[in-house]
Formats: sequence, structure tokens, C-alpha cells
Amino acid sequence: MPTARTGRRCVVAVDGPAGAGKSTVARAVAARLGYIYVDTGAMYRAVALLALRHRIPPDAVSQILARLDEVEIRLEPAAPGEPNRVYLDGEDVTDAIREPEVNAHVSEIARHAAVRERLVALQRAWAREGGIVMDGRDIGTVVLPDADVKVFLVADVDVRAKRRWRELLDKGHAVTLEEVRRQLIARDVQDRTRAESPLRKADDAVVIDTSDMDIPAVVDEILRLCRERTARGEAGTDKA
Ligand code: DC
Repeated sequence: MPTARTGRRCVVAVDGPAGAGKSTVARAVAARLGYIYVDTGAMYRAVALLALRHRIPPDAVSQILARLDEVEIRLEPAAPGEPNRVYLDGEDVTDAIREPEVNAHVSEIARHAAVRERLVALQRAWAREGGIVMDGRDIGTVVLPDADVKVFLVADVDVRAKRRWRELLDKGHAVTLEEVRRQLIARDVQDRTRAESPLRKADDAVVIDTSDMDIPAVVDEILRLCRERTARGEAGTDKA
């Protein structure tokens, strides 16, 4: 991963359920601050795609790990405010990891402790220099428990389902809102109830309900939290 701009740099953790607006908000915050953005969900999706392509059942963890040993997962910041581009052994899988088939399998892959361990090691290495906004499910609780700013985004389930449905329609997928809603709820239940690093608000995270907020308002609130930390001289990294 390339290094971010120099200066007093925060580590920002953005967690929450699917469709709460995490990636849009996290990308915008990173762009405004000149920080790196890391979409950790994309990494779990890349592993799910890998398993699907090799016809490995989602519960065959040792086979998944063996495949993981052979490939490199790389995230690249495309441009400020843009989604990460995701590479699996050099192949651009940015679009492939958003396919409905991956949506349907990714939670089952993400519940394996051994898979998480590998991805978390990469995530922590990328965050070492600060100047990073990372989004996921366990960033504030497990990956970066010392993050300077932790936010937990939530939104009404109908709002979240509608957001995901529109995204899929825009990409040309013929899915019904009800189908998307059902899948989203199933994924939430799985992410919240799994034994390993479940989706949970960190005790020191700030909850922001995005149901009736527009993106710029949420971004401004997070930037305010970052300024507050920096002004108090508490930001974790000052390695300019
Ligand atoms: O954010 P997303 O929808 O792209 O995430 C895909 C899946 O990966 C989702 O089911 C939860 C899982 N995930 C996770 O377990 N931990 C993370 N840090 C990020 C995502």
C-alpha cells in the first residue's frame, strides 16, 4: 500500500452492518483527509471468490487456507473517493467480488478464525503508519482497538436494503427488493452471531444513525471527531 500524506495522522475505524453506508462514508473521509482507505470487506469477498472459483465448499477451511497460501490479495486505492481496486494474484477482481454469488457465500467464509487471522495481519500492517480509514465489522473491536476515532454506523433495515438493491440494479442485476432484504438480514445475523470477531460496536465507538442523514453530514461528523482528537493531541501517529 502506498503511504499517505505526511502530517498528524489519525487511524479511523468505521464499522457497522451491510448497507449502513460504511464504504461510501469511509472513502469520502479518506479523500478529505488525504488518507489511505481500506475496505476490509473486499478482502473477505476476494477469499470467497477464490473458494467459489476452485469449487471449495465454504466450510472446508483447510482447503481455503491452502489456496490462500498460493495467492496474493492486493488492495489499491484507485483515486481519492473511489472504491479500492482489488487484485487476486494480479487479476483485477473488483467487479467479480460484488457478484450475487459472492454476496451469498462471503459470510460463511468470514466466520473462519484462521481466515480472519491472515487478513487481520495484513490490515494491521497497512495501518501501522496511521493516516488510514478502514471499514469493516471488527475494525474498532479487534483489528485496530487503539484507533483514534471509532464510529459505528447503523441504519434502519429497510433503508439499508433499499440502498443495496439500488446498487445492484445500477449494476444490471435483476433482483427484487425483498430478495435483497432477506439476504441482508441473513448476512447480518450471521455476522453478529458468529463466534469469531462478531459484528459489535466497540465500547468507545460513536454510533451514527445514517437512516435520515446524507453522506456529507456523516462525513462532516467524522471529520469533526478527527479534529477533536488531533486538537487534544491524542492522535496515535505523528510519523511525518
Ligand atoms: O462490507 P461487505 O458487505 O463488503 O462485507 C462482506 C462480508 O465480509 C460480510 O458478510 C461481513 C464480512 N466482513 C467481516 O467479517 N469482517 C470485516 N472486517 C469486513 C467484512
